[in-house]
Amino acid sequence: MNVAVVGTGTVGLVSSTCFAEMGVNVVCVDVDQAKIDSLQKGEIPIYEPDLAEMMQRNQRDGRLHFTADLANILDEVEIVFCAVDASLDEYGSADLQGVLSVARVFGQNINKYTVFVTESTVPVGTTKKIGRVIQKELDRRGVSVSFDVACNPEFLKEGSAIVDFMKPERIVVGVESEQAKELMTRLYRLMMLNNFRVVFTDIPSAEMIKFTVSSMLATRISFMNDIANLCELVGADVNMVCQGVDGGVAAGNKNLYPSCGYGGHGFATDVKALIQQAQNNGCRMRVLEAAEDVNRNQKKVLFKKLFRHYRGYLIGKTVALWGLTANPETTDMSDGTSLVLLDLLVKAGVNVRIYDPVAMDECKRRLSPWGAAVESIVYCGDMYEALLGVDALLLVTGWKPFASPDFELMKKNMKQRFVVDGRNVYDAENMKKNGFVYETVGYREAF
Ligand SMILES: NC(=O)c1ccc[n+]([C@@H]2O[C@H](COP(=O)([O-])OP(=O)(O)OC[C@H]3O[C@@H](n4cnc5c(N)ncnc54)[C@H](O)[C@@H]3O)[C@@H](O)[C@H]2O)c1
Repeated sequence: MNVAVVGTGTVGLVSSTCFAEMGVNVVCVDVDQAKIDSLQKGEIPIYEPDLAEMMQRNQRDGRLHFTADLANILDEVEIVFCAVDASLDEYGSADLQGVLSVARVFGQNINKYTVFVTESTVPVGTTKKIGRVIQKELDRRGVSVSFDVACNPEFLKEGSAIVDFMKPERIVVGVESEQAKELMTRLYRLMMLNNFRVVFTDIPSAEMIKFTVSSMLATRISFMNDIANLCELVGADVNMVCQGVDGGVAAGNKNLYPSCGYGGHGFATDVKALIQQAQNNGCRMRVLEAAEDVNRNQKKVLFKKLFRHYRGYLIGKTVALWGLTANPETTDMSDGTSLVLLDLLVKAGVNVRIYDPVAMDECKRRLSPWGAAVESIVYCGDMYEALLGVDALLLVTGWKPFASPDFELMKKNMKQRFVVDGRNVYDAENMKKNGFVYETVGYREAF
């Protein structure tokens, strides 16, 4: 089977590599010629565990190719996946320029039946709109070529994208013709043989499922963070509360962990996009709006704890930040807690020492418009260097090395042994024994 995947971001690179791994011949396309040139040499522009090795192997085996010329390869493929960015604008609506331009190139160049599949996250109704754009291009050419549109939303999470793609919780395919369904069934046959769930729906429902999954997760996370904050006030232990409710029918068993807020490209933007789509249709997503509101506050929780600990006297203090992203194993800092924290810390006159295993360059890029404000931020070479002379450590990301540190080295390097843990990874008793003042989300020693 031959497919094209347009877009070489996380979604495009991961899905094209994984399709190739399943034995499909894939051409991955991007408008960015420089990116294509380096991908052809086996260089990867993003950090994603296992991606480089799998991509290079499939390139060597001849199942994965890269090009900037979509028009030229359309005769060779049966399916075109569109995985270009459809990022939110300031009003929370998607920018569909890229998606629609891929649709136009598709309509201007197909000469035989081909399926156009929306893999990007797009507002409900977009895939059918794409169908109309393609038909308009065919009419303009004065040709009658049959095609179908379909929607195959992607649920992968940056940092575990390969695993999420190869072992999905579900594969959702929105199709409205037997021919398209037959092609998509052929593509995912291996997945079906391995008992992964492939759910066929109509097209708008497939688009809606993507937003619903992200929004349910956001709601659960914010709900649990609300519970954690209340636990702290009434003296309950949120970790015990989690253990007690986990796995029950009402609670499920995922994302029931308190934290310093959710974020990340895709997930957090999906939530905003669904709220916006509802508003565009004259209705309100009240629960989701509340989940968003809780999340906005939750991103400030670590700062509030620091502020309370030092009774507001933060000017001239030095604080370490471990982790810059919402999830480990990724450079994705979008909509995350660290940027909110950095802003609060810098404005409060705090010197910040930061360390992240992979996201330091991304952080420099994002902070470059901050100008003089970044002078109080020091980029450190490792997690212990970040602790030198600090008055507190704020743990933001759940990277494994942060979860099992060398406590002796921590004690040696920190000026004040105050740790605020935004991922609840340490044992409170052990921290106490080591002489740390330790606070988590939903736990405060001083209670
Ligand atoms: N990143 C995630 O975790 C994630 C997860 C699920 C869904 N999504 C959705 O998938 C889509 C892609 O996300 P991403 O993170 O891979 O995006 P990205 O921004 O990292 O990459 C998009 C790529 O598309 C290319 N592109 C843009 N317009 C193009 C065009 N007209 N023709 C060819 N290439 C073009 C860009 O050059 C870029 O390389 C988005 O809609 C996103 O919301 C993302």
